[in-house]
Amino acid sequence: MLVIVTIDGVAASGKSSVAARVAQQLNLPFVSSGLLYRAVARLALKHDVPTQDQEALLRLLDSHALELRPYAQGNEVWCEGEDLTHELHTAEVDAAVSRVAQHSQLRAWVNEQLRALPEPFVVEGRDMGTAVFPQASVKFYLTASARVRAERRAGERTGDVDAVEAALRERDRHDAAQSRPAPDALLLDTSNLSLDEVVSCILKAVPA
Ligand code: CDP
Repeated sequence: MLVIVTIDGVAASGKSSVAARVAQQLNLPFVSSGLLYRAVARLALKHDVPTQDQEALLRLLDSHALELRPYAQGNEVWCEGEDLTHELHTAEVDAAVSRVAQHSQLRAWVNEQLRALPEPFVVEGRDMGTAVFPQASVKFYLTASARVRAERRAGERTGDVDAVEAALRERDRHDAAQSRPAPDALLLDTSNLSLDEVVSCILKAVPA
């Protein structure tokens, strides 16, 4: 029985849009793991907590309950009655998030939140198929050239394509340790594929 589909990949490879569409087609919820890392980065920036200080970040999580809500139409992150979702995709959070994501205890906290979610679902991130859900029924890993990714993301951020590409390459470098395909993942280079084409490739590979 199909329980979990993992869609990992590099920054701006299209994971969220693809995961949302695949989940919709399979009639499953989708889960965006990166939002939790982004929410911790946002809280750190808001409360002037240095992103390299893991202990202080964990204390911040103790005093500010974060909750990921994986709705079918889009994931939200709430913190004590406040919806933080609209604050999570800024250039400031982009620049801070990989440093937050390098802390092992913080990763363990994120993974615990994800594993507590009721199955089945489609989940996207960096290490869903390797570290978090190695038992997943079917796994994918999306890549695309840095230029194509920057062109796709430039419309969602301030700055020109060159600046967005430089920021993406920097984030790739920081994320390299935790972002890799599972040995049993299907690799998909999306550089020359439309969203519909990627979704259809994935759906073809998902057992009925
Ligand atoms: O959409 P994009 O790939 O730009 O970002 P995201 O999936 O929202 O992830 C934001 C950041 O969270 C990444 O750059 C990683 O530093 C971190 N992350 C991670 O370490 N592990 C995950 N499973 C998901 C995200």
